[in-house]
Amino acid sequence: METREKRKNFTSESDGGIWFTFSRRNFLTLAGWGLFFVTIGAYLLEIMGYKGFFYPKVLFEPSPRFSVGEPKSFLENSVTTLKARKIFIVRDGNSFKAISVVCQHLGCAVEFSKEKNIYECPCHGSKYYRNGVNFAGPAPRPLNHFEIVLDDSGKLVVDTSKTVPLETELVV
Ligand code: FES
Repeated sequence: METREKRKNFTSESDGGIWFTFSRRNFLTLAGWGLFFVTIGAYLLEIMGYKGFFYPKVLFEPSPRFSVGEPKSFLENSVTTLKARKIFIVRDGNSFKAISVVCQHLGCAVEFSKEKNIYECPCHGSKYYRNGVNFAGPAPRPLNHFEIVLDDSGKLVVDTSKTVPLETELVV
């Protein structure tokens, strides 16, 4: 009886293939296995990610410490905006400062006005003196100042992970 049942559901190789005949039992078996493998596959994809198994799960952020070039590449008594690094390099004579462009109110990028010799925030009107001290608008404190040093090759290196007091300056 069982053999007959099997013969009813399967075709043999001698019949020209190993294909299933379509029966409710075979359909449910196939559907069950299909669901099983789809679930396992989705689970593996979820825990490993698309490329997660082959690549480390890290955020590639630029280093907070970077070179901005030689001191002579900045004009005397100038404010140079390095937009990509979100800092101003302020040179007064032979002294250098690295000042953040990020407004201390809500984080907009302030801009330096050459005519007025101040930083102005386009968002809510905060104003800062050339040395970064706030004097108008809602900003509660001065712009951040970052560590700036001269490396062995004579280039200026800024570290935006280290804030320094306002009066700190590098004299070269
Ligand atoms: S973000 Fe600069 S004044 Fe509001």
